[in-house]
Amino acid sequence: MSTLFEHGATLAPQIDAAAAQRAYELDRLHVFHSWSAQDLISPMVISAAQGSYVWDGDGTRYLDFSSQLVNTNIGHQHERVVAAIAEQAAKLCTIAPTYANEARSEAARLISERTPGALNRVFFTNGGADANEHAVRMARLHTGRPKVLSAYRSYHGGTQLAVNLTGDPRRWANDSASTGTVHFFPPYLYRTTFHSTTHAEECERALAHLEQVITFEGPSTIAAIMLESVPGTAGIYVPPPGYLQGVRELCTRYGIVFIADEVMTGFGRTGRWFAVEHDGVVPDLLTFAKGVNSGYVPLGGVAISPEIAATFGERVYPGGLTYSGHPLATAAAVATINAMQDEKMVEHAAMLGTDVIGPALAQFAERHAVVGETRGLGVFWAIELVRNRETREPLAPYGASSPDMNQLIAECKSRGLLPFVNFNRIHVVPPCNTSVADVEKGLAILDDVLTIADGLIGG
Ligand SMILES: Cc1ncc(COP(=O)(O)O)c(C=O)c1O
Repeated sequence: MSTLFEHGATLAPQIDAAAAQRAYELDRLHVFHSWSAQDLISPMVISAAQGSYVWDGDGTRYLDFSSQLVNTNIGHQHERVVAAIAEQAAKLCTIAPTYANEARSEAARLISERTPGALNRVFFTNGGADANEHAVRMARLHTGRPKVLSAYRSYHGGTQLAVNLTGDPRRWANDSASTGTVHFFPPYLYRTTFHSTTHAEECERALAHLEQVITFEGPSTIAAIMLESVPGTAGIYVPPPGYLQGVRELCTRYGIVFIADEVMTGFGRTGRWFAVEHDGVVPDLLTFAKGVNSGYVPLGGVAISPEIAATFGERVYPGGLTYSGHPLATAAAVATINAMQDEKMVEHAAMLGTDVIGPALAQFAERHAVVGETRGLGVFWAIELVRNRETREPLAPYGASSPDMNQLIAECKSRGLLPFVNFNRIHVVPPCNTSVADVEKGLAILDDVLTIADGLIGG
């Protein structure tokens, strides 16, 4: 059993450089990549991974401070999960969602036990976007209302409705004015829309703004508010205390379904099983994916309140997927959740946030002129880079990269660190079970790279 949070620190896998080269060539000939101009990319070949490390096709080792797309919460190749997938594959690879199945039932039980309140029914999907699509469908049918409100600076997935709910530039090219999606401004003190100077002010003003949007859109037309509990790719800006409570109250007052998108924040990322716990909030629907089984097999889902489940007690729920609750994916979820529990990974993630990453990032903010703000929880942190602390001009414009940011990514990689970067931010998002020593190693590399960044802005 892997109890030591040290997976991969010493292991050196055999890398077949010729196979890696062929993988690269075939990729360039035949693979069509997400969110990319196909001729302008040069994907790194990853040939092996273990714990918090990956190896490229030349055998170079990298500390994975990205958790890939912030999904490998238990690190790579956790032996209990790999074994559970193999065991399930030998027993029963696939079965239609019509039937009951041990792996699916047990996964639903383990998830229900950990979601807040009485969210005790689980609809399984293949990932996060379709979880959000189904959550909205449930909310619309439950309320009989058409519109959904979501925040600017958010990401909810790549399918048509989910990308139209998204509040970042990935929506623009797909913006077909998907009926009934309306955006509002979330609280974000560092770049406040509301001219606030304190978190309390920002919280109060953002809630007043949201209530105005509800009033002017017409409460009787709004089915749901969808909100990332801590917005992730858009900047890991932790909502001020009381904000999620306030949204909960508005939803209750106006009969609106509160959908918490916990696709990125769920399963330990913020040092709790779910990020809504930080504000003591129970949503009506909670969507999850990524960390539920660390992405070892694609899986997502919606945890459903008793009231919404009851809507579909004697009325057909008009939705489904061939692979809903796929046995390999749900067996991986069972093993992942049990491993996280037994190895106290959620507690470990919380400790990394309070004792290691948080204090180190606070020091970076003091020492490096390029650091505008650092913020986060658990193993979910952002470093916001600026050219000028007074003007807060970002090191890359909103919605884009810049030569400076590209150089910093290259500097990280040349030092053996795989970072997660979005626009002008570096996100510190290692697996929940990364050892303190490895986190400190990654932070030391970031410290060096920030010194280079200081030089870029003449600091
Ligand atoms: C908050 C959030 N919601 C939804 C999604 C979409 O999930 P998927 O890519 O599994 O469809 C993501 C993916 O990054 C996400 O971060």
